[in-house]
Amino acid sequence: MWQRIACFLIFLKVFECYQKATPTELQNYLNLFKLRDIFISTSVNQKSKGIFFEAKDGQHNLQISVDECLLTMMFPEKNSWHKRIGVFLGEKCETDLMICLNENSLLVFDGCHQIFSDQLHELEFSFGNPEMKLLPNWKIQPKTFEIGSGFPISQKCKIIVSNPKNYTVESVESLYKSRSHPVLHSTVFSENVLEPPDDFDGCMINNELVKIGENNMVNCQKCTCMARDEVFCQVQECPHVKCEHPVIRDGECCATCGKQCNFEQRLTKHAHGEIFWPEDCYRCECWDGEVNCEKKNITCQTPLCPAKDWVIENDYQCCPKCKDDANFCETSPCHKYADCYNEKRGAKCICKEGFHGNGTFCLDIDECKFSQDARAQLGGCMDGTRCKNTLGSFECPCLPGYQRLTEQMCMPLLRV
Ligand SMILES: *[C@@H]1O[C@H](CO)[C@@H](O)[C@H](O)[C@H]1NC(C)=O
Ligand SMILES: *[C@@H]1O[C@H](CO)[C@@H](O)[C@H](O)[C@H]1NC(C)=O
Ligand SMILES: *[C@@H]1O[C@H](CO)[C@@H](O)[C@H](O)[C@H]1NC(C)=O
Repeated sequence: MWQRIACFLIFLKVFECYQKATPTELQNYLNLFKLRDIFISTSVNQKSKGIFFEAKDGQHNLQISVDECLLTMMFPEKNSWHKRIGVFLGEKCETDLMICLNENSLLVFDGCHQIFSDQLHELEFSFGNPEMKLLPNWKIQPKTFEIGSGFPISQKCKIIVSNPKNYTVESVESLYKSRSHPVLHSTVFSENVLEPPDDFDGCMINNELVKIGENNMVNCQKCTCMARDEVFCQVQECPHVKCEHPVIRDGECCATCGKQCNFEQRLTKHAHGEIFWPEDCYRCECWDGEVNCEKKNITCQTPLCPAKDWVIENDYQCCPKCKDDANFCETSPCHKYADCYNEKRGAKCICKEGFHGNGTFCLDIDECKFSQDARAQLGGCMDGTRCKNTLGSFECPCLPGYQRLTEQMCMPLLRV
């Protein structure tokens, strides 16, 4: 396993790409996504537009793209949903973009500025037989473009400044399964074609008298009166529409493209028919330019920070979150023999020196059980002493008949 990862490292470092990636290379990138140990870096400017990585099968879609200074990242989630993250790159969008996905988080950098960070837990990269593309439809050649493994930002930048740009994170249900689309009726119901009055030489179509050779519309079909009381109907030809999921509006026969939605002036737009979750408890649907949301009954989890650091940031948030500079250590989540470090998303607990464990539980290390050599490296007990373990450390009391020379060494008592 580790050997395989090492191979990627070497392989990908070499890769500088405007040339087309081979299927093997693409498969390797996908494996890196699976391992959640990947970076993509490229330069972006105002003219940059298009997708720079895409992998999809019937269930999942992984796509990273830029359009109008908006970086959009779609990562596949469980149940064939996807997580969509939009990051605004600034009005000028002259950006040295680096996207790092690792085990714990997704980080986006503009040069040495961190402009987005979040933990993404439910991503799912088990693609079946994906169709993969690198830089499809990318409008201008980026100055640099690199995909690799690891976290090279720490080599590139001495100091990383955090200035979050505007962003949105949403879960999107698999697209367009929501509503069945209206289908043209293929038959003309008999009530629409009635027998004409005796004195009329023509047809009665849709309650109108229609002369021979003329027509009337019924259920979006063109019905022509061929002879007295003889009607021939034909489905109307509709112009071809470009969008994937056209709508037929009330009173119209042909489908047109539904309008996109811009929910709450957020960064990312929603396709017609899309169902998305702007927050955990709201399920919204974009239908022809209008968003309808329903609130779901969810049980909130208690945030890990003290209650004074809880915030509700918008109307759609149902559960309190911890504010950005929340003090997670205040609730003493760590073991008494651990130090607590306040991180952005929670407390990090590290056992103090002389203790081992995971931080929520720490055990004293019995240094006296170390080998002589290992102890010597710790400045261990030497001649004329014995080793005595203490909490978090050890001591070297003198053997009987010895007196102290240094902390680690005793010498035989001098008898005069
Ligand atoms: C977010 O970006 C938009 C896009 O230009 C900008 O108009 C808006 O002021 C920004 N909002 C915040 C909170 O920075
Ligand atoms: C929401 O869930 C709570 C707890 O499960 C329950 O007591 C309450 O009746 C539910 N409300 C609705 C509107 O379903
Ligand atoms: C830490 O270790 C203890 C003892 O082995 C275990 O019970 C606990 O679940 C661990 N906590 C975490 C967060 O791994």
